[in-house]
Amino acid sequence: MNPFYIGREFKKEAFIDREKETEEVMKMIESSNNIVLYAPRRFGKTWFARNLSELMKDRGIDSVWIDMFSTVTVKQFISRLNEERAKILKLTPLEYVRKFFADHLSSFSVSAAGIGLEFKPSSEAEIWEILFKSLMVLETSESNGLIVFLDEAQEMAKMGKQFEGILRTVIQHQRKTVYIFLGSRNSIIEEIFFKKEHPLFKSAIKYDLSKYLPHDKTEEFIKTSFVNSGKAISNSAVETIIRFSKLHPLYVQLISSEVWNFKDKIDESDVRECISKLLERNDYFFRNQIENINSKYALAVLKMIASDEFSYSAETQIKWEIKSPASISKLVDNLEEKEIILKVNGKYVIEDPIFEEFIKRM
Ligand SMILES: Nc1ncnc2c1ncn2[C@@H]1O[C@H](COP(=O)(O)OP(=O)(O)OP(=O)(O)O)[C@@H](O)[C@H]1O
Ligand SMILES: [Mg+2]
Repeated sequence: MNPFYIGREFKKEAFIDREKETEEVMKMIESSNNIVLYAPRRFGKTWFARNLSELMKDRGIDSVWIDMFSTVTVKQFISRLNEERAKILKLTPLEYVRKFFADHLSSFSVSAAGIGLEFKPSSEAEIWEILFKSLMVLETSESNGLIVFLDEAQEMAKMGKQFEGILRTVIQHQRKTVYIFLGSRNSIIEEIFFKKEHPLFKSAIKYDLSKYLPHDKTEEFIKTSFVNSGKAISNSAVETIIRFSKLHPLYVQLISSEVWNFKDKIDESDVRECISKLLERNDYFFRNQIENINSKYALAVLKMIASDEFSYSAETQIKWEIKSPASISKLVDNLEEKEIILKVNGKYVIEDPIFEEFIKRM
């Protein structure tokens, strides 16, 4: 079976350790800091946090996980939070409700499938009251502490400021519960956590996970995964996978997976052939992506970035025949907002290394 894997579900055996980052975040947890784990999409936030959650579990600290993307309403948030917490305490949802919400029993019921909770408040006010209580009771037990992971935290914006306000009040009270918010869309994350007008202002420390995987561990992972699944791969082929993927976690898996499916004995030229296939398969999508940027300089700027020549200098603008330099910074902002490009160590790069290769070949 193909040992490389792309998907939302965390697979420990396909996980390349981010040891340094894990250690740093664990220290932050130990100091009871709430954390915003930020990285552009597909950079491995969820996998990183899933692994962290397993490691913390080994240390006796449980975690609750809520995906804010698929959580549509505050009511649903309440249901999920309590369901998750009930699981940790090994209670059925109903037992949990009886224990902590005895005064509100009639507002809860067990969902059709028999495993989930449904929260049907009798009034709007009850929603906020129960939200507050659901969060507060996380700390009433004699547990060692708890981590609450809120994945896709940028989606909290849809819940409104009252939700954020209650979260803030609770967070400020709790010492043993750590909240870890995972988010992409930097501008929304900045807005929620680092703008004074927002309730959650400065209630969490930002940790930037836009970091590429470590070279040695990735190399080791690719090699052993091929060998253990009965395939042969040359060292230069492994290096070529690494070079094209740029050590971006998703693309390490994607290119390796493609190569694994291609042949049983892999050389450098096979990797190149797989890259060409990926480019071909994405041709329509990539062209569309460029068109949708809606600027006559889109390709020029992407090419500048891909060839590491991007700059606002007059010289560069002349070289690339850019006649209205003022429009460039707006275009760059737009590309960044769409997460087509991102800033790594102060320099713009194209997020998707396959797209970058496509741009280079145009
Ligand atoms: N540390 C890692 N080692 C190996 N592969 C990884 C690692 N982290 C992520 N991946 C790969 O990248 C894919 C995307 O990772 P993940 O879903 O964690 O990203 P994300 O930042 O949460 O993305 P999104 O913004 O879409 O939620 C995973 O399915 C997996 O294939
Ligand atoms: Mg994710």
